Amino acid sequence: MPTRLFASTLLLCIAGAAAAQTAKVASPDGRIAVAVVNDGDGRACYTVARDDKLVIARSCLGFMLVDTPKIDRAIVLGQPQYAKFDETWEQPWGERRLIRNHYNEMRVPLSEGGKLKRRLDVVFRVYDDGLGFRYEFPEQPNLKQVKITDELTEFVIAPEATAWWNDGFEWNREEYLYHRTPVQEVGVAQTPLTLRTADGLHLSIHEAALVDYSGMNLVRVEGHRLKAALTPGSGEFAKVIRNVPFNTPWRTLQISDNAGGLVESSLILNLNEPNKLGDVSWFKPMKYAGVWWEMHMDTKTWSSGPKHGATTGNVMKHIDFAARNGFGGVLVEGWNVGWDGDWFGNGEDFSFTQPYPDFDFPKLAAYAKSKGVQLIGHHETSANAAHYESQMEAAFDLDRKMGVHAVKTGYVSDAGQAKVIGPDGKVHYGWHEGQDMARHHLKVVTEAAKRQVAIDAHEPIKDTGLRRTYPNWVSREGSRGMEYNAWGQPGNPPEHEVNLVFTRLLAGPMDFTPGVFGMKTRSPDGVATTWAKQLALYVAIYSPIQMVPDLPEVYEANPGPFQFIKDVAVDWEETRVLNGEVGDYVTIARKQRGGNDWFLGSITDENPRDLKVPLSFLDKGRTYVAQIYRDGPDASWNGKRESVVVEQREVSANDTLELKLAPGGGQAIRFAAK
Ligand code: NOJ
Ligand code: CA
Repeated sequence: MPTRLFASTLLLCIAGAAAAQTAKVASPDGRIAVAVVNDGDGRACYTVARDDKLVIARSCLGFMLVDTPKIDRAIVLGQPQYAKFDETWEQPWGERRLIRNHYNEMRVPLSEGGKLKRRLDVVFRVYDDGLGFRYEFPEQPNLKQVKITDELTEFVIAPEATAWWNDGFEWNREEYLYHRTPVQEVGVAQTPLTLRTADGLHLSIHEAALVDYSGMNLVRVEGHRLKAALTPGSGEFAKVIRNVPFNTPWRTLQISDNAGGLVESSLILNLNEPNKLGDVSWFKPMKYAGVWWEMHMDTKTWSSGPKHGATTGNVMKHIDFAARNGFGGVLVEGWNVGWDGDWFGNGEDFSFTQPYPDFDFPKLAAYAKSKGVQLIGHHETSANAAHYESQMEAAFDLDRKMGVHAVKTGYVSDAGQAKVIGPDGKVHYGWHEGQDMARHHLKVVTEAAKRQVAIDAHEPIKDTGLRRTYPNWVSREGSRGMEYNAWGQPGNPPEHEVNLVFTRLLAGPMDFTPGVFGMKTRSPDGVATTWAKQLALYVAIYSPIQMVPDLPEVYEANPGPFQFIKDVAVDWEETRVLNGEVGDYVTIARKQRGGNDWFLGSITDENPRDLKVPLSFLDKGRTYVAQIYRDGPDASWNGKRESVVVEQREVSANDTLELKLAPGGGQAIRFAAK
C-alpha cells in the first residue's frame, strides 16, 4: 500500500461571497492562476496564467449529447468550494520512491438555466507543476444517462508555440513518428501533446485516470484553438455512454520552465486514485530476455513448423542466458496455439491455455524456477478482446500455476477493429482507445492482479497514470518501439527517442526494448543509433521491466558494452533530468532503489553534442567509480555504430563531466558507489 508518510490535510472552506461569475484558484506557490469565467454568451470558460502571463487564453467547457441539447449555454457559475491537499506517498516501484501530492482545489458548480436545469461541477486541482480539471456529473432529476458525442473542452494556447505531436485517429493507432510544427499547424493530435512557447515555457496536454470513458485526442479548430476530440465509441453516435453520477478523466496541463521539468513532474500519477490492490511485492522490477527478436528478424516464427521459435530447447537456451547474466525473466512469444493462420486483426484461433506440442510448459516452468528465472507469458489477442475475455481467467490461472508473474498482452489490429462485448451483451467493433477498450483493459488488469500477474500491454490504450491505482499495470508500448528498427519501412529515425522522452514517456513507462547491438536488419537504416546510445536508453526511457532483446550470442560476443546492460538498475529511488531540449537531446540521472549507485543516460538526435554535466546530483561526500560507455571518436548512427569506448575514473559530487555524443549517439554511465 502507498504509505502516507506525512499527515495529509484536506481543508474544505466555502467561499463566503455570493455566487461569483469569476472563480479563481492558484497553485501552492502562487505562480499558476486559474480563473473560471462566464463568457457573456452563457458559456463556462477557463483561463490559465503563469507568473501573470496568459498560457491558456479563454477556453470553453461543455458537452455535445446525442439525444438532447448540448450542455454549454445558459450556464450559471455557482459558489466555488475550495480545498487544499498535501501528502507524500510511496510508489511500490517507479522512477522515484516518494512523490509529493500538493495542490489547491476549486470546485465550481455549473447549472443550466432554461427548462432542463442540468448540473455539473468542474473541479480544478492546481499544482506547482501544472493542473488537472475534470467534470463531475452529480445525481439529478433531468439527467440519468449521458450519451456524449463530443466534449467541447478547449485549450487555446495563448502565446506562439512549437508543438510536438503525432497523428490521432489513423489506422496504425499510436505508432507514428512525431511532427514538430508551429501550434497553428497541428492537425488531429494524440496526447500527450508537447509545446514550447516563444518565451521558453514547456507545456504538455494529456489526461489522467482514463476509466470507463473514451481517450481524448486534440483537434485544432482554428488558430491556436485546440479542442478535445473523443475517440469514437462503439454504438450509435455516442463516444461515451455513462449513467449519472460519474466523473470524467482529468484533463491535464503540465507547465515547466524547461523541458526536463515535464519529465520530472508526477502530476499524472498524483491525479490518479491511490493503490487499490494492496501489496504487489510479488511483482519485481526486472530485465528480461526472450524468444522475440529472432521472430522480428524473421529467422524464427511465432507459428509452428521448422522455424518455430518457442520450442522447449530454444526457450531453455534463453533461460540459461538470462540466468548466466542475472536477468529476471524470459518472455516467450508463439508458445500457444493460434499463430498458424491469418492471426492479424482476427484472433479467433488463439488459445491462451493450449501450448504448441513442442513447448513443454510444465518442464520449462520448473527449469526456469530451478535457475531463478521467471517465464513471462504472452497473450496476443489481435484486438479480439471478446475472445480473450472468454479465456482470460483460465489463462491467468494457468500462469499462476506455472509461476508466471508477468504477461505481455497484444492488440494487433487496425484502428477501429477492436472486438469487445459491450455492456449490452453485444459484440462491438471499436477503437483501441474507446470506452469499451478502457473497460476491457481494467478487467484484464484486475483479473491478472487476483492471480499475482503483472501486465505489459502492447498496442494498448494510452497510459494515464492508472499504474498508481493498479500497480500491476507495469508497462506498455503505445508508440513505435525497437521492433520498427527490425522491419520498419522506414525504421525509427535518430531523433525518435529524444521525441519519445518528452512526449509518449510523459504518459508513463514504455516497453521500448532497448539494447540491440545487431545493427543490420530488414529496415533500410537498420538500428539508426550508436551502441552507446542503445545502452543509454536503459536510463533515458523508463520502464520497470526492460527487455534485453538481442540474441544471446550477440551480447556474449561483446562482453565490454554488454556489462552495462547487466549492471543497470530498473527501479529507482530518484530521477533527475540534467539537461535536454524536446526532440534534440536529453541527459537523465537515476539513483538505484535499494542501493547507492547512480546511473546516467544521455542521448541525442542526428546532431553531435558536447554537454557539460555537473555531478552535483551524486550523494555528497561519497566517492564513485564512474564506469563510462561513450561513443568512440569515429562513432555515428550512419557510420561506425559499434564504436564504443569503455573506461573508468573516480568521481564525486564536486566533479563535472564532459559528454561528447556522436551523431545519433549517446553515453551511459554507472556511478558505482565505493
Ligand atoms: C506487436 C508487439 O509490439 C510485438 O512486441 C509482438 O512481438 C508482436 N505484436 C506479436 O505479438
Ligand atoms: Ca507494436
